Amino acid sequence: MTTTPAVASRRIHVPLPDRGYLVHIGPGVRHSLAEVVAGIGARRVAVVTARPPEWTPDPGVPSLVVPARDGERDKSLAWVEELCARFAEFGLSRSDAVVSCGGGTTTDAVGLAAALYHRGVPVIHLPTSLLAQVDASVGGKTAVNLPQGKNLVGAYWQPSAVLCDTDYLQTLPPRELTNGLGEIARCHFIGAGDLRGLPLHEQIAASVALKASVVAADERDAGPRHLLNYGHTLGHALERATDFALRHGEAVAVGTVFAGRLAGALGRIGTARVMEHTAVVEGYGLPVRLPAEVHTAALISLMRLDKKATDGLTFVLDGPRGAELVRDVPEHVVAATLEAMPREPGGHA
Ligand code: GLY
Repeated sequence: MTTTPAVASRRIHVPLPDRGYLVHIGPGVRHSLAEVVAGIGARRVAVVTARPPEWTPDPGVPSLVVPARDGERDKSLAWVEELCARFAEFGLSRSDAVVSCGGGTTTDAVGLAAALYHRGVPVIHLPTSLLAQVDASVGGKTAVNLPQGKNLVGAYWQPSAVLCDTDYLQTLPPRELTNGLGEIARCHFIGAGDLRGLPLHEQIAASVALKASVVAADERDAGPRHLLNYGHTLGHALERATDFALRHGEAVAVGTVFAGRLAGALGRIGTARVMEHTAVVEGYGLPVRLPAEVHTAALISLMRLDKKATDGLTFVLDGPRGAELVRDVPEHVVAATLEAMPREPGGHA
């Protein structure tokens, strides 16, 4: 449980009217939880944590601690109901608060419970995975899954604060860390500039700052917020086509390479920029190839279900004006670009 005091923490403001909040980033920032709880005036809190007690900071007020598990299995309405029941048994009131501590599945489910309990109580997120620090915990999207699909039931519920403690990242398995890098890599193409070579906490801060500005412009995902889905149309399809063997950030990485190639095929960007997509993704140690076993037709069917697509095939693509939503991309161009993608060994012809 090391803290590196030499690294200064950063604070990024998410500038929403009446609901603006700070994202604190750096080693040891979890220890400011008590100060944050006091700052919002909560007298008691429910701490829902997927981390062991030594990694769950003291909220500084009487608390109920509810152990949780990270993972899609517990991202369910049944878990949200159980959390709300535990809050009620504890006597949590509207002037108290909820704290989530865990990966993105935990911050998503606890965020939804906070949005629903008493029609909304303040929530503070302590994301512990890189993916949750750079994306899931910031911006107010909360959701759980149904058997019919992921994230089908949710609400927009902005946190009161987010504490991205980079000490948590030292506890992650290497593949989980790489998974989070997928969301950082795609920021290169949606306005963050080249973050390669910066210390990780600076890359997190830049990714969060970018997300904060996008969320401030379009909290409810009516337009500009689609930009955050760069690389995600194929990414989501790959996750489903591989039955989630490919992790979200890995799938987004391959989706980012594909988005560059598709933009090139449509004449929106030149060859050098197409190649930059592969170089950036590869530079983060992320996959750039399609898995061996996935078929073009299956991927296209899945991409037609993408939430951005009201009809046809829709992608966020780079172009002369930067990245933007491009609707009705001809299926034959998408198919040819998929067929031309490099594949892991053993792929179909
Ligand atoms: N993860 C994409 C968004 O927050 O809109």
